[in-house]
Amino acid sequence: MSDRKNVVLSPDVVEAQKDIIEQIFQINEAFYRLCGVRKKAFIETYGCQQNVSDSEILAGMLSSMGYELSDSKDEADFIIYNTCAVRENAELKVYGNLGALKHKKSKNPGLIIGVCGCMMQQKEVADTIRRKYKHVDLVFGTHSLYYFPSLLKQVLDDSSRVVDVRETDGSIAENYPVVRGDGPCAWVSVMYGCNNFCSYCIVPYVRGRERSREKDAVLCEIRSLAAAGYKEITLLGQNVNSYGKDLYSDYDFSDLLSDACKIDGIERIRFMTSHPKDISDKLIDTMAANDKICKQLHLPVQAGNNRVLEVMNRRYTKEGYLEKIKKIKEKMPGITLTTDIIVGFPGETKEEFEDTLDVLRKVRYDTIFSFIYSKRAGTPAAVMDDVLTHEEKKECFDRLLEVQDEISLEKNEALRGKVMKVLVEGTSKTDENVLSGRTEGGKIVNFEGDSKYIGEFADVEITDVRTWSLIGKIID
Ligand code: 5AD
Ligand code: SF4
Repeated sequence: MSDRKNVVLSPDVVEAQKDIIEQIFQINEAFYRLCGVRKKAFIETYGCQQNVSDSEILAGMLSSMGYELSDSKDEADFIIYNTCAVRENAELKVYGNLGALKHKKSKNPGLIIGVCGCMMQQKEVADTIRRKYKHVDLVFGTHSLYYFPSLLKQVLDDSSRVVDVRETDGSIAENYPVVRGDGPCAWVSVMYGCNNFCSYCIVPYVRGRERSREKDAVLCEIRSLAAAGYKEITLLGQNVNSYGKDLYSDYDFSDLLSDACKIDGIERIRFMTSHPKDISDKLIDTMAANDKICKQLHLPVQAGNNRVLEVMNRRYTKEGYLEKIKKIKEKMPGITLTTDIIVGFPGETKEEFEDTLDVLRKVRYDTIFSFIYSKRAGTPAAVMDDVLTHEEKKECFDRLLEVQDEISLEKNEALRGKVMKVLVEGTSKTDENVLSGRTEGGKIVNFEGDSKYIGEFADVEITDVRTWSLIGKIID
């Protein structure tokens, strides 16, 4: 077990950061008394749910500092991008967005621009920002999140640039303020980091080694969420099946799930992400035995060919994966299954890609999240040679979507006419007269209804289906 003293931030450090939050609050209050308007902060988040969860802590700190959280960067006094390093596309967007802020900063020198998250944990990226994006005031990595108040204070006091990209395996801090998104669902991080080192993946380098939160801290947070009226939680970790290995010899993720199920008020529990090599019979049995645990599993397969899986360092075979899926389906018929797929991993041939399609046809996932391989400097796969051209990879990618779209639609079609219990999360993104919620399996259902249902469960009859969502009619 690792040395926890180096993992959990001491209460003194947390208190010192809270003092700084208070100092900034006083400055912002004085500004408000003088000008009658509050300073505004804008946060843009890229990447996975872990980043969304980190941004909720950033929002919590900013709000406690007296900033008003704003959806518009045009009126913001502080803009921060919480970045993702998993694929190049997301990185390019950040560079583009940062470039576009240069003009804004020259018109408004008081504007503070920050950039944080996984991208900044890569030395070359932080150096590039330092050299080429001189209008950026604050740069910090994932391991510095909990020091954000002191970093921002330094920028405010000295009007100088502050860069904090510390190379640790990361820390955990409890009792930071959090501002969560609207609705009845909340994210709860149970562990951080990853030890798996899949050969294509940057995450272990930017998020550090696996470290779990104490079970009592997690359960206490879930109890307070229940008391605040939240009905659904999603337990988060890069590899939740490793939960507790660094802390306990006899308490694992299944035990945590069972304990979470005992908390009154929380009616639905989801979790992500599970690694296929680690998913245990105990976890499958725990899911099957507890009504509160949603019958939904995200189990990234990445590829279907055994040679490719081995070079990816995934440590399972196609047959082993399919065997686990069989067991899961036997124990939980009707479970919603989703996965991640990488197309065009270095060396993958067209014939090997056929094995990925075969997995799709055999498992019949409800949805897949698919990506064309993106080279990440510093990972083992970055120096491996390609067999397929970019065009060929794109052709494989399009075929993948074609095969999956048909399966997704067929699976949704089977739900037509069924009455499903939907937790209403809010209004639809495209039409505010339409409510939007999720089934136990995590499928989005849109239907007309009164806003009084937001935050509540509703019985909805499925009247029409799309590839990625369902359409329904509320049953009173
Ligand atoms: N290129 C493309 N996709 C990647 N992922 C991780 N690393 C890469 C990469 N270098 C995908 C995997 C993972 C998901 C979060 O992102 O499918 O499960
Ligand atoms: Fe990346 Fe693999 Fe860890 Fe997932 S399990 S975060 S793909 S290294």
